[in-house]
Amino acid sequence: MKINEFKKIAIIVAMQQEAEPIIAQLGLLTTCIPELLPELGMQAYRSKFFDQDIYLFTNGIDKKYNVNKVATQPAAITALETIMAIKPDLIISAGTAGGIANKGLSIGDVCLGSDYYMYHDRRIPSGDSEQYGIGYFSCPDAALLAKEFNLKTGIVSTGNSLTLSQEDEKVLQEHNVLAKEMEVAAIAEVASMFNIPVLAVKAITNIVGIEADVAKEFKSNFNIAVQNLSETLAIILTHNSRMRT
Ligand code: ADE
Repeated sequence: MKINEFKKIAIIVAMQQEAEPIIAQLGLLTTCIPELLPELGMQAYRSKFFDQDIYLFTNGIDKKYNVNKVATQPAAITALETIMAIKPDLIISAGTAGGIANKGLSIGDVCLGSDYYMYHDRRIPSGDSEQYGIGYFSCPDAALLAKEFNLKTGIVSTGNSLTLSQEDEKVLQEHNVLAKEMEVAAIAEVASMFNIPVLAVKAITNIVGIEADVAKEFKSNFNIAVQNLSETLAIILTHNSRMRT
């Protein structure tokens, strides 16, 4: 993938608190996109960045529990709404992730997805459904970008839990996964139907399997991770714009 090929880019972020530093860093402004269904509560931001159109969408807040709508169902809905509303050339799934132990990751590192996106908890051990369950959604080759900015790359896997089951762990090991999170495969599953590439940019809040309490680790490392995430996105997009001029 050449990052400079893309003129209209949609950044999809699950949590409002993940999005805030990105909005500030890129100088994005709240925008109203009439095509978005108001019932969904998605938030939309936009800015011109050199000659690029950058949009950012969040999934919004769950009305019943007053929390961010994370995980795969909101991610798939946001992806479809984004595609129908603005038809982006590229989607960036930006957010936090748990790094898998012994992969050389540290808290606050930002990494890019490689090879394919997959689900580690959609287990259907029955014929071809097994492969369907894993997903194997296509992932653009971001090796050059990673090299240029010294970012780690590896398989990013999606599941609907912050915590880890033994079965999840087995699948993560089998696929040599670098980081686990809760959205990118769902976004890529939808985007693949429209041939839109999805780049995963994920900042590490915790090292999976090592932490005593994943929710606590996630909270205490959240700010440093999202700050690094926003800076990396700005660097990538500035690079993208420079390459176009
Ligand atoms: N986001 C940050 N850490 C995570 C983890 N361990 N699992 C899923 N999503 C995450």
